[in-house]
Amino acid sequence: MSIFDERRYLIPFRSQLLPQLFTDTLIVGSGVAGLRAALEAAKHGDVFVLAKESIDHSNSSWAQGGIAAAVADADSTESHYADTMAAGAGLCERAAVRILVEEGPQEIEHLMRLGMRVDRKCDGSISLGLEGGHGHARILHSDGDATGRELMRALIAAVRETAGIRLFDNCFAIDLCTDAKGRVAGAVTWHPRYGLQVIWARATILAAGGAGQVYRETSNPRVATGDAIAMAWRAGAVVRDLEFMQFHPTTLYVAGAPRHLVSEAVRGEGAVVVDRAGVRIMAGRHPREDLAPRDVVTRGIVEHLALSGDSHAFLDARKLGSAGFAARFPGLALMLAGYGIDAGNDLIPIHPAAHYTIGGLETDLDGRTNRVGLYACGEVASNGVHGANRLASNSLLEGLVFGRRVVAAVLKDGLPDPVPMQWESRVRTSVAGELDLGDVRSSLRSAMWRNVGIVRDGAKLRDCLDMFSFWGRYALGSVFETPDGWETQNLLTVGHLMTRAAAERRETRGTHVRVDWPTADAAGAMHLSWRFGEDCAVRTPAGEEASATP
Ligand code: SIN
Repeated sequence: MSIFDERRYLIPFRSQLLPQLFTDTLIVGSGVAGLRAALEAAKHGDVFVLAKESIDHSNSSWAQGGIAAAVADADSTESHYADTMAAGAGLCERAAVRILVEEGPQEIEHLMRLGMRVDRKCDGSISLGLEGGHGHARILHSDGDATGRELMRALIAAVRETAGIRLFDNCFAIDLCTDAKGRVAGAVTWHPRYGLQVIWARATILAAGGAGQVYRETSNPRVATGDAIAMAWRAGAVVRDLEFMQFHPTTLYVAGAPRHLVSEAVRGEGAVVVDRAGVRIMAGRHPREDLAPRDVVTRGIVEHLALSGDSHAFLDARKLGSAGFAARFPGLALMLAGYGIDAGNDLIPIHPAAHYTIGGLETDLDGRTNRVGLYACGEVASNGVHGANRLASNSLLEGLVFGRRVVAAVLKDGLPDPVPMQWESRVRTSVAGELDLGDVRSSLRSAMWRNVGIVRDGAKLRDCLDMFSFWGRYALGSVFETPDGWETQNLLTVGHLMTRAAAERRETRGTHVRVDWPTADAAGAMHLSWRFGEDCAVRTPAGEEASATP
Protein backbone atom coordinates (compact mmCIF):
# COMPACT_ATOMS: atom_id res chain seq x y z
CA MET A 1 0.00 0.00 0.00
CA SER A 2 1.42 3.40 -0.92
CA ILE A 3 1.51 6.54 1.20
CA PHE A 4 -1.36 7.84 -0.93
CA ASP A 5 -3.60 5.13 0.53
CA GLU A 6 -2.83 5.83 4.17
CA ARG A 7 -5.66 7.65 5.90
CA ARG A 8 -4.09 11.00 6.58
CA TYR A 9 -5.79 14.38 6.65
CA LEU A 10 -4.05 17.65 5.93
CA ILE A 11 -5.62 19.73 8.70
CA PRO A 12 -2.95 21.27 10.92
CA PHE A 13 -3.18 20.41 14.58
CA ARG A 14 -4.87 22.89 16.87
CA SER A 15 -5.32 22.25 20.53
CA GLN A 16 -8.36 24.53 20.78
CA LEU A 17 -11.76 23.56 19.40
CA LEU A 18 -12.45 24.96 15.97
CA PRO A 19 -15.31 27.45 15.45
CA GLN A 20 -18.32 25.74 13.89
CA LEU A 21 -20.86 26.98 11.33
CA PHE A 22 -23.99 25.22 10.11
CA THR A 23 -25.79 25.25 6.77
CA ASP A 24 -28.16 23.05 4.80
CA THR A 25 -26.01 22.80 1.68
CA LEU A 26 -22.29 23.40 1.43
CA ILE A 27 -20.97 23.91 -2.11
CA VAL A 28 -17.22 23.81 -2.60
CA GLY A 29 -16.44 25.69 -5.82
CA SER A 30 -17.87 28.77 -7.46
CA GLY A 31 -17.73 27.99 -11.18
CA VAL A 32 -20.73 27.33 -13.36
CA ALA A 33 -21.66 23.99 -11.73
CA GLY A 34 -21.35 25.34 -8.19
CA LEU A 35 -23.38 28.49 -8.82
CA ARG A 36 -26.07 26.65 -10.78
CA ALA A 37 -26.39 24.23 -7.88
CA ALA A 38 -26.49 27.14 -5.41
CA LEU A 39 -29.40 28.82 -7.21
CA GLU A 40 -31.35 25.59 -7.10
CA ALA A 41 -30.46 24.68 -3.51
CA ALA A 42 -31.41 28.14 -2.24
CA LYS A 43 -35.06 27.36 -3.09
CA HIS A 44 -35.00 24.84 -0.26
CA GLY A 45 -32.68 26.13 2.47
CA ASP A 46 -29.45 27.95 3.36
CA VAL A 47 -26.47 27.57 1.09
CA PHE A 48 -22.79 28.32 1.65
CA VAL A 49 -20.61 28.62 -1.46
CA LEU A 50 -16.84 28.51 -1.02
CA ALA A 51 -14.58 30.19 -3.61
CA LYS A 52 -10.90 29.41 -3.26
CA GLU A 53 -9.96 32.89 -4.47
CA SER A 54 -12.39 35.53 -5.61
CA ILE A 55 -15.69 34.27 -6.94
CA ASP A 56 -14.97 35.35 -10.52
CA HIS A 57 -11.69 33.42 -10.60
CA SER A 58 -12.67 30.01 -11.92
CA ASN A 59 -11.99 27.85 -14.96
CA SER A 60 -15.55 28.61 -16.09
CA SER A 61 -14.93 32.33 -16.36
CA TRP A 62 -11.96 31.66 -18.67
CA ALA A 63 -14.05 29.70 -21.18
CA GLN A 64 -13.77 31.25 -24.62
CA GLY A 65 -15.52 29.01 -27.13
CA GLY A 66 -18.95 28.77 -25.61
CA ILE A 67 -21.82 26.50 -24.69
CA ALA A 68 -22.84 23.67 -26.99
CA ALA A 69 -26.59 23.07 -27.24
CA ALA A 70 -28.94 21.98 -29.98
CA VAL A 71 -30.99 25.17 -30.14
CA ALA A 72 -31.00 25.81 -33.91
CA ASP A 73 -34.06 24.71 -35.88
CA ALA A 74 -31.93 22.69 -38.25
CA ASP A 75 -30.05 21.00 -35.39
CA SER A 76 -31.26 18.18 -33.15
CA THR A 77 -30.48 16.67 -29.78
CA GLU A 78 -29.93 13.40 -31.67
CA SER A 79 -27.11 14.98 -33.65
CA HIS A 80 -25.56 16.51 -30.49
CA TYR A 81 -25.85 13.10 -28.84
CA ALA A 82 -24.16 11.34 -31.77
CA ASP A 83 -21.25 13.84 -31.85
CA THR A 84 -20.71 13.57 -28.07
CA MET A 85 -20.72 9.77 -28.24
CA ALA A 86 -18.33 9.73 -31.21
CA ALA A 87 -15.85 12.09 -29.51
CA GLY A 88 -15.98 9.99 -26.32
CA ALA A 89 -14.28 7.04 -28.05
CA GLY A 90 -16.53 4.32 -26.63
CA LEU A 91 -16.38 5.39 -22.99
CA CYS A 92 -19.43 7.68 -22.72
CA GLU A 93 -22.45 6.59 -20.72
CA ARG A 94 -25.44 6.70 -23.04
CA ALA A 95 -27.90 7.75 -20.33
CA ALA A 96 -25.66 10.60 -19.14
CA VAL A 97 -25.20 11.95 -22.65
CA ARG A 98 -28.95 11.78 -23.28
CA ILE A 99 -29.55 13.83 -20.15
CA LEU A 100 -26.94 16.39 -21.21
CA VAL A 101 -28.26 16.99 -24.71
CA GLU A 102 -31.95 16.81 -23.81
CA GLU A 103 -31.88 18.95 -20.66
CA GLY A 104 -29.30 21.35 -22.12
CA PRO A 105 -31.65 23.58 -24.14
CA GLN A 106 -33.86 24.30 -21.10
CA GLU A 107 -30.76 25.36 -19.18
CA ILE A 108 -29.97 27.80 -21.99
CA GLU A 109 -33.47 29.26 -21.65
CA HIS A 110 -32.90 29.57 -17.91
CA LEU A 111 -29.67 31.50 -18.56
CA MET A 112 -31.48 33.87 -20.89
CA ARG A 113 -34.06 34.47 -18.18
CA LEU A 114 -31.21 35.30 -15.80
CA GLY A 115 -30.07 37.94 -18.27
CA MET A 116 -27.09 36.29 -19.95
CA ARG A 117 -26.35 37.95 -23.28
CA VAL A 118 -25.35 35.81 -26.25
CA ASP A 119 -24.09 37.01 -29.60
CA ARG A 120 -26.81 37.43 -32.20
CA LYS A 121 -26.97 37.98 -35.92
CA CYS A 122 -28.45 41.13 -37.49
CA ASP A 123 -31.85 39.42 -37.71
CA GLY A 124 -31.83 38.79 -33.95
CA SER A 125 -31.30 35.04 -34.19
CA ILE A 126 -28.55 33.46 -32.07
CA SER A 127 -25.16 33.38 -33.78
CA LEU A 128 -23.88 29.81 -33.43
CA GLY A 129 -20.24 28.79 -33.83
CA LEU A 130 -18.72 25.53 -35.00
CA GLU A 131 -16.05 23.62 -33.07
CA GLY A 132 -14.15 20.36 -33.40
CA GLY A 133 -16.21 17.17 -33.41
CA HIS A 134 -19.53 18.94 -33.96
CA GLY A 135 -21.47 18.12 -37.11
CA HIS A 136 -23.52 21.28 -36.71
CA ALA A 137 -22.90 24.90 -35.71
CA ARG A 138 -24.29 24.80 -32.16
CA ILE A 139 -21.93 26.81 -29.96
CA LEU A 140 -23.54 29.81 -28.26
CA HIS A 141 -21.01 32.50 -27.49
CA SER A 142 -20.88 35.94 -25.90
CA ASP A 143 -18.81 38.99 -26.83
CA GLY A 144 -17.04 36.84 -29.41
CA ASP A 145 -14.69 34.90 -27.18
CA ALA A 146 -15.73 35.84 -23.64
CA THR A 147 -18.57 33.39 -23.08
CA GLY A 148 -17.35 32.22 -19.67
CA ARG A 149 -17.06 35.79 -18.43
CA GLU A 150 -20.61 36.68 -19.47
CA LEU A 151 -22.04 33.41 -18.17
CA MET A 152 -20.38 33.91 -14.81
CA ARG A 153 -21.49 37.55 -14.68
CA ALA A 154 -25.11 36.45 -15.08
CA LEU A 155 -24.81 33.62 -12.55
CA ILE A 156 -22.94 35.69 -9.97
CA ALA A 157 -25.50 38.49 -10.25
CA ALA A 158 -28.33 36.00 -9.74
CA VAL A 159 -26.57 34.39 -6.78
CA ARG A 160 -25.93 37.78 -5.14
CA GLU A 161 -29.63 38.63 -5.47
CA THR A 162 -30.77 35.34 -3.96
CA ALA A 163 -31.57 35.34 -0.28
CA GLY A 164 -30.11 32.41 1.60
CA ILE A 165 -26.85 32.08 -0.35
CA ARG A 166 -23.66 33.10 1.47
CA LEU A 167 -20.52 33.43 -0.59
CA PHE A 168 -17.17 32.95 1.09
CA ASP A 169 -14.31 34.33 -1.02
CA ASN A 170 -10.72 33.20 -0.39
CA CYS A 171 -11.92 30.22 1.58
CA PHE A 172 -9.87 27.05 1.18
CA ALA A 173 -11.61 23.73 1.88
CA ILE A 174 -8.92 21.52 3.39
CA ASP A 175 -10.70 18.29 4.16
CA LEU A 176 -14.20 16.86 4.30
CA CYS A 177 -15.57 16.08 7.71
CA THR A 178 -17.55 13.10 8.81
CA ASP A 179 -20.22 13.35 11.50
CA ALA A 180 -20.81 11.06 14.45
CA LYS A 181 -22.93 8.81 12.22
CA GLY A 182 -20.08 8.37 9.78
CA ARG A 183 -21.46 10.28 6.83
CA VAL A 184 -19.83 13.19 5.02
CA ALA A 185 -21.29 16.31 6.59
CA GLY A 186 -19.29 19.38 5.62
CA ALA A 187 -15.68 20.48 5.50
CA VAL A 188 -12.87 22.02 7.49
CA THR A 189 -11.91 25.31 5.88
CA TRP A 190 -9.30 27.99 6.18
CA HIS A 191 -9.71 31.70 5.60
CA PRO A 192 -6.90 34.27 5.92
CA ARG A 193 -8.99 36.33 8.34
CA TYR A 194 -10.97 33.67 10.22
CA GLY A 195 -8.43 30.84 10.20
CA LEU A 196 -9.68 27.26 10.55
CA GLN A 197 -13.42 26.61 10.83
CA VAL A 198 -15.68 23.59 10.61
CA ILE A 199 -18.70 24.02 8.35
CA TRP A 200 -21.32 21.36 9.08
CA ALA A 201 -23.83 20.70 6.33
CA ARG A 202 -26.61 18.27 5.58
CA ALA A 203 -25.31 17.89 2.03
CA THR A 204 -21.87 18.68 0.64
CA ILE A 205 -21.57 19.30 -3.08
CA LEU A 206 -18.12 19.36 -4.64
CA ALA A 207 -17.99 21.57 -7.73
CA ALA A 208 -14.40 22.72 -7.48
CA GLY A 209 -13.20 22.01 -11.02
CA GLY A 210 -10.23 20.07 -12.28
CA ALA A 211 -6.51 19.63 -11.89
CA GLY A 212 -4.84 21.12 -14.98
CA GLN A 213 -2.16 22.65 -12.75
CA VAL A 214 -0.71 19.20 -12.19
CA TYR A 215 0.93 19.72 -15.61
CA ARG A 216 3.68 22.17 -16.42
CA GLU A 217 1.89 23.15 -19.65
CA THR A 218 -1.74 24.02 -19.01
CA SER A 219 -4.43 26.42 -20.13
CA ASN A 220 -5.95 26.33 -16.63
CA PRO A 221 -5.90 29.12 -14.03
CA ARG A 222 -3.71 28.67 -10.97
CA VAL A 223 -6.69 27.61 -8.83
CA ALA A 224 -7.10 24.33 -10.75
CA THR A 225 -5.07 22.18 -8.36
CA GLY A 226 -7.42 19.22 -7.94
CA ASP A 227 -8.11 19.95 -4.26
CA ALA A 228 -11.61 18.49 -4.27
CA ILE A 229 -10.51 15.26 -5.95
CA ALA A 230 -7.74 14.79 -3.39
CA MET A 231 -9.92 15.75 -0.44
CA ALA A 232 -12.73 13.39 -1.49
CA TRP A 233 -10.18 10.61 -2.08
CA ARG A 234 -8.92 10.99 1.47
CA ALA A 235 -12.54 10.78 2.64
CA GLY A 236 -13.13 7.50 0.81
CA ALA A 237 -14.80 8.66 -2.41
CA VAL A 238 -14.28 6.49 -5.49
CA VAL A 239 -12.34 8.11 -8.35
CA ARG A 240 -12.73 7.02 -11.94
CA ASP A 241 -10.93 7.34 -15.30
CA LEU A 242 -8.42 9.89 -14.05
CA GLU A 243 -5.99 8.86 -16.79
CA PHE A 244 -8.12 10.87 -19.20
CA MET A 245 -6.77 14.42 -19.25
CA GLN A 246 -7.78 16.42 -22.27
CA PHE A 247 -4.97 18.29 -24.02
CA HIS A 248 -6.23 21.28 -25.96
CA PRO A 249 -4.48 21.35 -29.35
CA THR A 250 -4.01 25.10 -29.63
CA THR A 251 -2.57 27.00 -26.71
CA LEU A 252 -0.18 29.88 -27.27
CA TYR A 253 3.46 28.83 -27.46
CA VAL A 254 5.54 31.88 -26.70
CA ALA A 255 8.58 31.69 -24.43
CA GLY A 256 7.75 33.03 -21.00
CA ALA A 257 4.03 33.49 -21.68
CA PRO A 258 1.28 31.48 -19.99
CA ARG A 259 -0.31 28.85 -22.22
CA HIS A 260 -3.24 31.06 -23.22
CA LEU A 261 -6.02 29.18 -24.91
CA VAL A 262 -6.54 29.96 -28.59
CA SER A 263 -10.13 28.85 -28.90
CA GLU A 264 -11.20 26.01 -31.09
CA ALA A 265 -13.79 28.45 -32.42
CA VAL A 266 -10.94 30.05 -34.39
CA ARG A 267 -10.66 26.81 -36.38
CA GLY A 268 -14.44 26.83 -36.55
CA GLU A 269 -14.11 30.10 -38.48
CA GLY A 270 -11.68 28.54 -40.94
CA ALA A 271 -8.20 28.72 -39.35
CA VAL A 272 -5.94 25.70 -39.94
CA VAL A 273 -2.99 24.16 -38.12
CA VAL A 274 0.26 24.30 -40.12
CA ASP A 275 3.94 23.65 -39.61
CA ARG A 276 6.63 26.25 -40.16
CA ALA A 277 6.77 25.42 -43.87
CA GLY A 278 3.03 26.10 -44.11
CA VAL A 279 2.13 22.41 -44.56
CA ARG A 280 -1.35 21.64 -43.18
CA ILE A 281 -0.92 19.14 -40.36
CA MET A 282 -4.49 17.82 -40.20
CA ALA A 283 -5.05 17.37 -43.92
CA GLY A 284 -5.70 13.69 -44.63
CA ARG A 285 -5.68 12.67 -40.94
CA HIS A 286 -9.43 12.77 -40.34
CA PRO A 287 -12.49 13.50 -42.49
CA ARG A 288 -13.14 16.66 -40.44
CA GLU A 289 -9.46 17.70 -40.69
CA ASP A 290 -8.84 20.69 -38.36
CA LEU A 291 -12.29 20.25 -36.86
CA ALA A 292 -11.76 16.62 -35.87
CA PRO A 293 -12.34 15.80 -32.18
CA ARG A 294 -9.77 17.41 -29.93
CA ASP A 295 -7.78 14.27 -29.11
CA VAL A 296 -7.32 13.60 -32.83
CA VAL A 297 -5.99 17.09 -33.55
CA THR A 298 -3.70 17.01 -30.52
CA ARG A 299 -2.28 13.67 -31.55
CA GLY A 300 -1.88 14.84 -35.16
CA ILE A 301 0.17 17.82 -33.99
CA VAL A 302 2.47 15.87 -31.64
CA GLU A 303 3.07 13.15 -34.23
CA HIS A 304 3.98 15.76 -36.83
CA LEU A 305 6.30 17.57 -34.41
CA ALA A 306 7.98 14.29 -33.42
CA LEU A 307 8.77 13.61 -37.09
CA SER A 308 9.86 17.13 -37.99
CA GLY A 309 11.75 17.82 -34.77
CA ASP A 310 10.04 21.22 -34.50
CA SER A 311 9.15 22.52 -31.06
CA HIS A 312 5.71 23.83 -31.99
CA ALA A 313 3.18 24.32 -34.76
CA PHE A 314 1.17 27.33 -35.90
CA LEU A 315 -2.42 28.34 -36.32
CA ASP A 316 -3.02 30.14 -39.59
CA ALA A 317 -6.01 32.44 -39.13
CA ARG A 318 -4.88 34.97 -41.75
CA LYS A 319 -7.88 34.39 -43.95
CA LEU A 320 -10.04 36.10 -41.31
CA GLY A 321 -8.02 39.31 -41.79
CA SER A 322 -6.97 41.58 -38.92
CA ALA A 323 -10.30 43.38 -38.66
CA GLY A 324 -12.35 40.21 -39.09
CA PHE A 325 -10.35 38.40 -36.41
CA ALA A 326 -10.62 41.29 -33.97
CA ALA A 327 -14.36 41.56 -34.55
CA ARG A 328 -15.05 37.86 -33.91
CA PHE A 329 -12.36 37.28 -31.25
CA PRO A 330 -11.74 40.62 -29.52
CA GLY A 331 -10.24 39.13 -26.36
CA LEU A 332 -7.88 36.89 -28.29
CA ALA A 333 -6.83 39.72 -30.61
CA LEU A 334 -5.93 41.82 -27.57
CA MET A 335 -4.05 38.99 -25.88
CA LEU A 336 -2.08 38.21 -29.07
CA ALA A 337 -1.29 41.89 -29.62
CA GLY A 338 0.40 41.79 -26.21
CA TYR A 339 2.95 39.42 -27.76
CA GLY A 340 3.26 41.38 -31.00
CA ILE A 341 1.07 38.95 -32.97
CA ASP A 342 -1.55 40.19 -35.43
CA ALA A 343 -3.59 37.12 -36.40
CA GLY A 344 -4.57 38.76 -39.69
CA ASN A 345 -0.93 38.88 -40.79
CA ASP A 346 1.06 36.50 -38.59
CA LEU A 347 0.96 32.80 -37.86
CA ILE A 348 0.08 32.08 -34.21
CA PRO A 349 2.62 29.76 -32.52
CA ILE A 350 0.76 26.96 -30.73
CA HIS A 351 1.30 23.67 -28.89
CA PRO A 352 -1.14 21.36 -27.06
CA ALA A 353 -1.44 21.79 -23.28
CA ALA A 354 -3.45 20.17 -20.47
CA HIS A 355 -6.93 21.64 -20.51
CA TYR A 356 -9.69 19.55 -18.94
CA THR A 357 -9.78 16.80 -16.32
CA ILE A 358 -12.15 14.26 -17.83
CA GLY A 359 -12.02 11.69 -15.04
CA GLY A 360 -12.87 12.53 -11.45
CA LEU A 361 -15.16 11.52 -8.61
CA GLU A 362 -17.43 8.71 -9.70
CA THR A 363 -21.07 9.71 -9.51
CA ASP A 364 -24.40 8.36 -10.63
CA LEU A 365 -26.54 10.32 -13.07
CA ASP A 366 -27.65 12.65 -10.28
CA GLY A 367 -24.26 13.51 -8.84
CA ARG A 368 -24.25 11.09 -5.88
CA THR A 369 -20.84 9.74 -4.93
CA ASN A 370 -20.37 6.48 -3.02
CA ARG A 371 -20.18 8.45 0.27
CA VAL A 372 -23.53 9.33 1.83
CA GLY A 373 -23.87 13.11 2.07
CA LEU A 374 -21.27 13.78 -0.64
CA TYR A 375 -22.21 14.87 -4.17
CA ALA A 376 -20.19 16.14 -7.14
CA CYS A 377 -20.90 17.99 -10.37
CA GLY A 378 -18.97 19.75 -13.13
CA GLU A 379 -15.35 19.04 -13.98
CA VAL A 380 -14.59 17.36 -10.66
CA ALA A 381 -17.16 14.63 -11.36
CA SER A 382 -17.00 11.58 -13.58
CA ASN A 383 -20.63 10.96 -14.51
CA GLY A 384 -20.08 9.39 -17.93
CA VAL A 385 -20.80 12.42 -20.12
CA HIS A 386 -17.33 12.90 -21.55
CA GLY A 387 -16.12 9.33 -22.08
CA ALA A 388 -12.48 9.20 -23.14
CA ASN A 389 -12.50 12.61 -24.81
CA ARG A 390 -14.79 15.54 -24.08
CA LEU A 391 -16.57 17.14 -27.01
CA ALA A 392 -15.69 20.84 -27.33
CA SER A 393 -17.90 23.27 -25.38
CA ASN A 394 -19.86 20.50 -23.63
CA SER A 395 -18.43 21.35 -20.23
CA LEU A 396 -20.34 24.55 -19.44
CA LEU A 397 -23.50 22.75 -20.46
CA GLU A 398 -22.61 19.85 -18.20
CA GLY A 399 -22.07 22.23 -15.27
CA LEU A 400 -25.52 23.72 -15.79
CA VAL A 401 -27.42 20.48 -16.32
CA PHE A 402 -25.76 18.46 -13.57
CA GLY A 403 -25.52 21.43 -11.19
CA ARG A 404 -29.30 21.49 -11.21
CA ARG A 405 -29.73 17.70 -11.08
CA VAL A 406 -27.47 17.27 -8.08
CA VAL A 407 -29.76 19.42 -5.96
CA ALA A 408 -32.76 17.33 -6.99
CA ALA A 409 -30.85 14.29 -5.72
CA VAL A 410 -30.04 16.02 -2.42
CA LEU A 411 -33.72 16.79 -1.91
CA LYS A 412 -34.77 13.29 -2.80
CA ASP A 413 -32.25 11.80 -0.37
CA GLY A 414 -33.67 13.96 2.43
CA LEU A 415 -30.59 13.75 4.65
CA PRO A 416 -31.04 14.58 8.34
CA ASP A 417 -29.08 17.28 10.16
CA PRO A 418 -25.50 16.23 10.84
CA VAL A 419 -24.50 15.06 14.28
CA PRO A 420 -21.41 17.21 14.91
CA MET A 421 -18.37 15.82 16.64
CA GLN A 422 -15.50 17.55 18.31
CA TRP A 423 -12.47 17.75 16.11
CA GLU A 424 -9.52 15.71 17.11
CA SER A 425 -6.49 16.01 14.86
CA ARG A 426 -5.05 12.74 13.63
CA VAL A 427 -2.19 14.45 11.86
CA ARG A 428 1.22 13.51 13.08
CA THR A 429 3.56 16.41 13.63
CA SER A 430 5.87 17.07 10.73
CA VAL A 431 8.86 14.79 10.44
CA ALA A 432 10.08 16.11 7.12
CA GLY A 433 13.00 18.45 6.80
CA GLU A 434 12.50 21.93 5.45
CA LEU A 435 10.61 21.70 2.18
CA ASP A 436 10.90 24.03 -0.80
CA LEU A 437 7.25 23.88 -1.88
CA GLY A 438 7.88 25.72 -5.15
CA ASP A 439 10.50 23.14 -6.09
CA VAL A 440 8.26 20.15 -5.24
CA ARG A 441 5.44 21.64 -7.26
CA SER A 442 7.53 22.45 -10.32
CA SER A 443 9.27 19.04 -10.24
CA LEU A 444 5.88 17.34 -10.09
CA ARG A 445 4.45 19.41 -12.94
CA SER A 446 7.49 18.75 -15.13
CA ALA A 447 7.44 15.03 -14.35
CA MET A 448 3.75 14.84 -15.21
CA TRP A 449 4.27 16.69 -18.48
CA ARG A 450 7.23 14.51 -19.51
CA ASN A 451 5.93 11.13 -18.37
CA VAL A 452 2.14 11.32 -18.08
CA GLY A 453 1.59 13.78 -20.92
CA ILE A 454 0.09 13.43 -24.38
CA VAL A 455 2.02 10.26 -25.29
CA ARG A 456 2.69 7.72 -22.51
CA ASP A 457 4.82 4.67 -22.04
CA GLY A 458 4.47 2.00 -19.34
CA ALA A 459 8.11 2.08 -18.20
CA LYS A 460 8.07 5.85 -17.70
CA LEU A 461 4.74 5.70 -15.90
CA ARG A 462 6.12 3.14 -13.46
CA ASP A 463 9.28 5.21 -12.86
CA CYS A 464 7.09 8.20 -12.21
CA LEU A 465 5.00 6.27 -9.68
CA ASP A 466 8.14 5.30 -7.76
CA MET A 467 9.27 8.90 -7.77
CA PHE A 468 5.89 10.21 -6.56
CA SER A 469 5.77 7.60 -3.81
CA PHE A 470 9.17 8.78 -2.62
CA TRP A 471 8.15 12.46 -2.74
CA GLY A 472 4.87 11.56 -1.04
CA ARG A 473 6.72 10.04 1.93
CA TYR A 474 8.07 13.41 3.00
CA ALA A 475 5.65 15.88 1.35
CA LEU A 476 2.51 14.19 2.68
CA GLY A 477 4.17 13.62 6.02
CA SER A 478 4.59 17.36 6.49
CA VAL A 479 1.94 19.49 8.12
CA PHE A 480 1.30 22.85 6.53
CA GLU A 481 -0.53 25.92 7.75
CA THR A 482 -1.38 27.66 4.47
CA PRO A 483 -2.94 26.86 1.07
CA ASP A 484 0.30 26.56 -0.92
CA GLY A 485 1.30 23.56 1.23
CA TRP A 486 -2.14 21.88 1.04
CA GLU A 487 -2.32 22.54 -2.69
CA THR A 488 1.06 20.92 -3.23
CA GLN A 489 -0.05 17.88 -1.25
CA ASN A 490 -3.26 17.72 -3.28
CA LEU A 491 -1.39 18.06 -6.57
CA LEU A 492 0.90 15.24 -5.58
CA THR A 493 -2.04 13.04 -4.62
CA VAL A 494 -3.90 13.73 -7.87
CA GLY A 495 -0.70 13.34 -9.95
CA HIS A 496 -0.13 9.98 -8.32
CA LEU A 497 -3.73 8.87 -8.94
CA MET A 498 -3.58 9.93 -12.59
CA THR A 499 -0.26 8.17 -13.13
CA ARG A 500 -1.45 4.97 -11.46
CA ALA A 501 -4.56 4.98 -13.62
CA ALA A 502 -2.53 5.70 -16.78
CA ALA A 503 -0.22 2.78 -15.98
CA GLU A 504 -3.17 0.49 -15.41
CA ARG A 505 -4.98 1.34 -18.64
CA ARG A 506 -3.14 -0.79 -21.15
CA GLU A 507 -4.64 0.54 -24.35
CA THR A 508 -4.86 3.69 -26.45
CA ARG A 509 -8.24 5.37 -26.30
CA GLY A 510 -9.36 8.98 -26.62
CA THR A 511 -6.94 11.28 -24.83
CA HIS A 512 -4.96 8.37 -23.34
CA VAL A 513 -2.20 7.36 -25.76
CA ARG A 514 0.21 4.51 -24.89
CA VAL A 515 3.12 3.82 -27.26
CA ASP A 516 3.42 0.34 -25.75
CA TRP A 517 -0.34 -0.37 -26.15
CA PRO A 518 -1.12 1.50 -29.39
CA THR A 519 -4.64 0.19 -30.02
CA ALA A 520 -7.93 0.14 -28.14
CA ASP A 521 -8.54 -2.88 -25.91
CA ALA A 522 -10.29 -5.56 -27.98
CA ALA A 523 -12.34 -6.49 -24.90
CA GLY A 524 -14.19 -3.16 -25.22
CA ALA A 525 -14.26 0.12 -23.33
CA MET A 526 -13.99 -0.18 -19.55
CA HIS A 527 -14.15 2.40 -16.81
CA LEU A 528 -11.43 2.04 -14.17
CA SER A 529 -12.59 2.97 -10.68
CA TRP A 530 -10.30 3.23 -7.66
CA ARG A 531 -11.23 2.96 -4.03
CA PHE A 532 -9.09 4.29 -1.20
CA GLY A 533 -6.77 1.66 0.26
CA GLU A 534 -7.27 -0.83 -2.58
CA ASP A 535 -4.44 -1.47 -5.03
CA CYS A 536 -6.60 -2.75 -7.89
CA ALA A 537 -9.02 -0.89 -10.07
CA VAL A 538 -12.57 -2.10 -10.51
CA ARG A 539 -13.42 -2.47 -14.22
CA THR A 540 -16.94 -1.67 -15.40
CA PRO A 541 -17.96 -1.91 -19.05
CA ALA A 542 -18.89 1.48 -20.46
CA GLY A 543 -22.59 1.90 -21.06
CA GLU A 544 -23.58 0.61 -17.64
CA GLU A 545 -24.63 3.38 -15.33
CA ALA A 546 -22.11 4.18 -12.58
CA SER A 547 -23.19 2.51 -9.38
CA ALA A 548 -22.09 5.00 -6.71
CA THR A 549 -22.57 2.18 -4.22
CA PRO A 550 -21.84 3.27 -0.64
C1 SIN B 1 -12.19 26.47 -26.65
O1 SIN B 1 -12.71 27.58 -26.77
O2 SIN B 1 -11.50 25.97 -27.52
C2 SIN B 1 -12.37 25.72 -25.37
C3 SIN B 1 -13.76 25.33 -25.18
C4 SIN B 1 -13.81 24.04 -24.40
O3 SIN B 1 -12.86 23.68 -23.73
O4 SIN B 1 -14.82 23.36 -24.50
